Amino acid sequence: MAKLRAAVVGCGGMGRCHLSALQKMEELELVAACDVMQATLDRRAEEFTMPRTFTDLSAMLEEVRPEVVAVATQTRQHREVVLACAEAGVRGILCEKPLALDLAECDEMLDACTRHGVQMAVNHQGHLRPTTLRAQAMVEQGVIGDLLVVRGVNKGGRKCGNELMEMGTHTTDRMICFGGHATWCHAFVTWDGRAATAADIMDAQEMSPRDRDSGLVLGHRLFAQYGFQRAPFGEMAMYAWEKTLAYGVDLIGTRGQLMLRGSRMDGGLLHLDSPIFDPTRGLDQWNPVTGLPEEPVWGSMDDSVCVMYQHLLRAIETGEPHPSSGDVGRHALEMVMAIYESHRRGARVALPLQDRTHPLDRWKREGG
Ligand SMILES: NC(=O)c1ccc[n+]([C@@H]2O[C@H](COP(=O)([O-])OP(=O)(O)OC[C@H]3O[C@@H](n4cnc5c(N)ncnc54)[C@H](O)[C@@H]3O)[C@@H](O)[C@H]2O)c1
Repeated sequence: MAKLRAAVVGCGGMGRCHLSALQKMEELELVAACDVMQATLDRRAEEFTMPRTFTDLSAMLEEVRPEVVAVATQTRQHREVVLACAEAGVRGILCEKPLALDLAECDEMLDACTRHGVQMAVNHQGHLRPTTLRAQAMVEQGVIGDLLVVRGVNKGGRKCGNELMEMGTHTTDRMICFGGHATWCHAFVTWDGRAATAADIMDAQEMSPRDRDSGLVLGHRLFAQYGFQRAPFGEMAMYAWEKTLAYGVDLIGTRGQLMLRGSRMDGGLLHLDSPIFDPTRGLDQWNPVTGLPEEPVWGSMDDSVCVMYQHLLRAIETGEPHPSSGDVGRHALEMVMAIYESHRRGARVALPLQDRTHPLDRWKREGG
């Protein structure tokens, strides 16, 4: 396959990571970068070879005609950038997470991609991490028996409202890797130690000015239960604890358990030959799963982004969806929206959600 022309839109923190990844990829040629801030483009031009830079997206799309685009703006701008790229004939998009502010936006973006024949992928890199792939194979081989519970463990360090939009879809995405799509959700969200109400809904940057602009958020702590296509139970707790190495996914089966963690913790994948939670069994009784790919492929964030591009190129070539496709990325956000919808209604909700607008926006307008 001839080299495809690639461009990055949004050259802040994560845009820098995409620029770095694209410069490493032999199959792609970085032809342009776009950011509304000229100063940001100037800073990036000192680090990377960027043949053309633009502060205007339509000018870039018209003049450069990129075939692959990284969408690395903050979430509020994902929709407008993706729609413009789809209409301009881009063949593949790697969009940052979360895909959009709500499901209505996701639907509009994915419809446009389908209409224009664009392969859309969402940059949840955990989807293709060696630990995820190996654990999927082990579950498939029956190493832990029948899968009963998929548990997402959050990274911590934030109130759950912000955490859901910052890290939450990485967690729900990884739960989807094992459970398939969620079929129901029952959640409870607290604020100040009581049930969160419509009056507690705020913008992400009001909850934490250090975080990104990711729309409406709610809650300090939460507990959510799910049912999945391939597992009867799922759960996710966000207790706003300190940042922790426990961030990851636990899989509990009828015969054993798998614990997926970051690479700093025993290579990231541990196996316990028992389905029973037993506090007397320490970490020393868990067996590290060995033989996972070594560095440098997984040594840095941009290397894991390279893997996402490799799969995007394959999707463009074959017409098969990316493993972390737009549809999967939308479902990862749907699991977050279902938490709010369930809490708002005080009831278990079925997925897919019928109303695609933001549950918090509706709740706020209804005044509780
Ligand atoms: N996948 C991951 O692991 C990971 C990690 C960090 C951040 N992210 C995601 O990456 C995205 C960007 O986060 P960030 O921290 O880089 O944000 P950032 O604010 O550092 O960068 C965003 C950039 O987009 C530019 N921008 C805004 N509107 C634009 C437009 N219409 N056209 C072109 N440029 C525009 C801004 O000027 C800014 O430079 C977010 O969605 C975030 O959640 C993903």
